[in-house]
Amino acid sequence: MKKTLPYIAIIIVLIYALYNAKFRDLKKIDTHTNIHYKEHIETHKTTHYEDELSQINTDEYTKQYIIRVINHGSNILDFKGGVMEAGFASVDDAEKIACYTLELSGKKCKDSYEKNAAMFYTSICGGCHGDDGKGLGGTCPNLTKSKLLGIVKRENFLKDMIQRSQ
Ligand code: HEC
Repeated sequence: MKKTLPYIAIIIVLIYALYNAKFRDLKKIDTHTNIHYKEHIETHKTTHYEDELSQINTDEYTKQYIIRVINHGSNILDFKGGVMEAGFASVDDAEKIACYTLELSGKKCKDSYEKNAAMFYTSICGGCHGDDGKGLGGTCPNLTKSKLLGIVKRENFLKDMIQRSQ
């Protein structure tokens, strides 16, 4: 038994060394995949940014932006009127109100919508943005601008992110 002990010790050391080497290898692969993963995400994001930027001047994009503001509010524009809280209208009504708002600036909503949208707009939004959508002399954003302020901000952000990734 005494004679075999050194051999057992050597075997244990060997197994430990092998195990360690294998583990280090795995670690290496892991960092490697991580770098790849990060690169992948970055290119992926840039593609999304580019896609979004190519849509930004469409009426559909503006409509979706208005719907988002109605449902989630807005606090990025720094207006006398303060921030706009979320949920002045229900999610169900948001779409037709967005269509009506879009048409206040002469744009065209491609989907047909209920005519009562005008009444909804005037009673819910008109108090702050004006029945004509022009923002009551700068108190609230003018919704008839050819490009809404939040969209201008988003466009600048997207261009900046794309430029940084090049
Ligand atoms: C209590 C006043 C108030 C009401 C009611 C209100 N808003 Fe606003 N709205 C604001 C203010 C103030 C802002 C600017 C907020 C900010 O700083 O981001 C704003 C921002 C917006 C924006 C972004 C404008 C831009 O140029 O990017 C849209 C779109 C908008 N409102 C649509 C609506 C619609 C549609 C309704 C009705 C469902 C409505 N708002 C109801 C006060 C109001």
